[in-house]
Amino acid sequence: MKKESLTAEYIIHTSPDTLSAADNKLIELAKKQLDIAYAPYSNFYVGAALVLENGEQVTGCNQENASYPLCTCGEHNALVTAGNNYPGVKIITLAITARNPNQALTHPVTPCGACRQIIAEFEKRQSSPVRLLLTGEVGDIYEFESVKGLLPMSFDHTFL
Ligand code: THU
Repeated sequence: MKKESLTAEYIIHTSPDTLSAADNKLIELAKKQLDIAYAPYSNFYVGAALVLENGEQVTGCNQENASYPLCTCGEHNALVTAGNNYPGVKIITLAITARNPNQALTHPVTPCGACRQIIAEFEKRQSSPVRLLLTGEVGDIYEFESVKGLLPMSFDHTFL
């Protein structure tokens, strides 16, 4: 018997100044999505914006449904929009943010488990990492070089 451990490294930006102008613009684009997110049931608004290797940007926000399981996440919507409109074009960076009118989000939102799995599939299909920028309304910004840091030992095609 032996014990193993899983560790993940990420960068905590305590100020936007340590990110590039392009990264900050992507975060701003994600934040703009908060104004058009459709979240009348949870009142939790999620915005996402990603940039592709060709420089195109794609956005998404959560879209809820009175039949709750049909709600789709903001980052999910951005990812499938990219997959639909830019097949074969790699995603470089995905920014995700959220707003909760009941409680100011002072720490970064982290993607749900299902969205981590979806990001992992995009990494697999493009054979390169998707860099993640995670933010709240204010405060630190987390930077992960890949979703692997958030979803170690993920289920993937090798099991099939
Ligand atoms: N949500 C996202 O859009 N992304 C996540 O990673 C977590 C949750 C949405 C789904 C639902 O509309 C609301 O946030 C509350 O769960």
